[in-house]
Amino acid sequence: MKKASNPIRFNLVEVTDPKLAKEILRHNGADTYDFKTYLESLETVSGRNFNPLMNFCQGSLVYQRGKEHLKNRRVLKTFTGSKNVKSWEPQIKEALNEITANISSKKSFDLVQDLANPLYLFLARIVFGIEVPKEQESQFVKEIALAKDLVEPYVSIRKLDQIQQAIEKIKQHVSKATSQNKPHENSLLGQLADHQDEHKDYLVVSMLVGVHTTAETLCLILLNLLSSREGIVFYKNCKDKNWLNKRIDGLLRLYPTTQSIFRYATKDFMLDDITYPQGTLFQLNLKSINRSAPFYSEKQILQGDLEPKCPFNHTSFGGGAHKCPGNELAKSTITMALSIFSEKLPNITLNFENLSLRHTIIKTEPIEITVGQNRVGA
Ligand code: HEM
Repeated sequence: MKKASNPIRFNLVEVTDPKLAKEILRHNGADTYDFKTYLESLETVSGRNFNPLMNFCQGSLVYQRGKEHLKNRRVLKTFTGSKNVKSWEPQIKEALNEITANISSKKSFDLVQDLANPLYLFLARIVFGIEVPKEQESQFVKEIALAKDLVEPYVSIRKLDQIQQAIEKIKQHVSKATSQNKPHENSLLGQLADHQDEHKDYLVVSMLVGVHTTAETLCLILLNLLSSREGIVFYKNCKDKNWLNKRIDGLLRLYPTTQSIFRYATKDFMLDDITYPQGTLFQLNLKSINRSAPFYSEKQILQGDLEPKCPFNHTSFGGGAHKCPGNELAKSTITMALSIFSEKLPNITLNFENLSLRHTIIKTEPIEITVGQNRVGA
């Protein structure tokens, strides 16, 4: 039987130092790994057809490299820029107010089911122009969660089959929205209306999958804030949006949803007198990089100080050519959500009996986070 070459069985270097991380992220000899070639070799050994998944890799920013990647990033620059993000804010705020009003009548609620999922569906509509029929919403959210696992190393062939099916179903929603509506010019579908690219729908799918991290990060930030005394005080202060605006990067630094990102040496290169041969795989441990002493102190951030002087930006959105294109949208959405939530629901507490997270090599994913409301005087 033939063997598939596995992209993660190279010389693996774990990176926890912020300076080294920054250099690797900016280095033109380090890129995301060539997943398409890996899929081709898996096809050979398994006899499966991964053609749709390979097409997805060609459309997805995560797996594109060089000129192709740069071209699509340029196309998306306006879409993900400040002007567009500002223009979505009133609708996102309205959506967050609606979600919060629904929650406020409940004695206890789940941050995933009652906050993250509805927020994500609103974002799909407002930002992407994709309306998911009510009866398909829960299936759609499950498909997005499955699709996110494609970036994990060590994915089984059976799981790849499931991911491939999920991606094709997500793509059907995108194709339907493209063919039926005249999308709003501010939405991603509106902005890509004239973009000629055979993998365009997959490009949209990759963005749609990426945006889900916003809702998950919001849940993880809330979970972490509600877990400590300093965090609860911080949460209560969040109702002042201007105060929070200056500290949101501190929160994102502390609680990254993405735990690791990978870069692969496409040629031999030298950093700090060490030669990294072609094929080296760098695993950048974002949490360690972000919490690296002496640049940062958790206590300072949670006690509400402005972010301590730090010579390195945090890596919660990655960096270099592949840096998350949704970072402005994510920051603005999470800031609005925390500020509305802490104003309307100031007395919420965690229920540790119903708490479930899924930890993978790449990310931490909230599964269930139950929160109770102590109504003062009730
Ligand atoms: C708090 C929320 C978010 C977090 C923590 C996050 C985190 C990340 C990280 C760590 C990466 C990898 C970057 C790298 O390899 O250097 C990434 C890439 C990406 N993200 Fe996000 N993301 C968030 C929100 C979003 C949003 C709102 C969108 C879409 C509008 C999005 C779309 C993407 C895409 C398409 C990529 C691949 C970019 C490329 O390879 O060129 N993400 N994100």
